[in-house]
Amino acid sequence: MELMEVVQRRRSIRAYKPDPVEPEKIALILEAARLAPSWKNLQCWRFMVISAAEKRQGIADAFPLTNPGRKAILEAPVVIVLCADPNESEVWEGKDYYMLDVGLAMEHLILTATAQGLGTCWQALFSEDKMRSALEVPDNFHIVAITPLGYPAQEKKPRPRKALAEIAFGEQWGQPWS
Ligand SMILES: Cc1cc2nc3c(=O)[nH]c(=O)nc-3n(C[C@H](O)[C@H](O)[C@H](O)COP(=O)(O)O)c2cc1C
Repeated sequence: MELMEVVQRRRSIRAYKPDPVEPEKIALILEAARLAPSWKNLQCWRFMVISAAEKRQGIADAFPLTNPGRKAILEAPVVIVLCADPNESEVWEGKDYYMLDVGLAMEHLILTATAQGLGTCWQALFSEDKMRSALEVPDNFHIVAITPLGYPAQEKKPRPRKALAEIAFGEQWGQPWS
């Protein structure tokens, strides 16, 4: 699959088939995350691959019932958890780069999963304290985001995006690039 096709195909998948994910696909996805760029190549991230039903229940319990992605954690056969130690990255002019580092690893992971025909969904709206207890993540690590991973049980149309003219400028701020 061409990169642009993968980018266009990626959607937030919130319904999954119970079919297991092949270990070699999980290995490929983790490798893509490992190769992501990071601040000064410090690679502050750690990834957890969770399949056990009781652990997935613990993750789901850390989510507000109103989070539309909660059900997917129980449905998908795998959940990947992305953590980072801010002390292994840096803050520059008030910008905390561990968040960006993990974001890049997540997007590598998600696009690779899409190219393998798998579904994912960025999820960050959860109680970090509850998730930490459920997964026994050390206190120096932030749990930044998770994604369910599995074969999609839904087809989704693209969600709307802002027009390029609204967000991409040329030499002059506010003047659309063309
Ligand atoms: C940082 C971040 C956090 C998100 N957290 C959640 C979440 O907690 N639950 C959820 O269902 N979706 C979550 N999403 C998914 C977004 O709602 C979704 O990406 C957006 O609506 C666009 O839809 P699309 O991904 O299908 O293009 C999150 C996305 C990002 C980038």
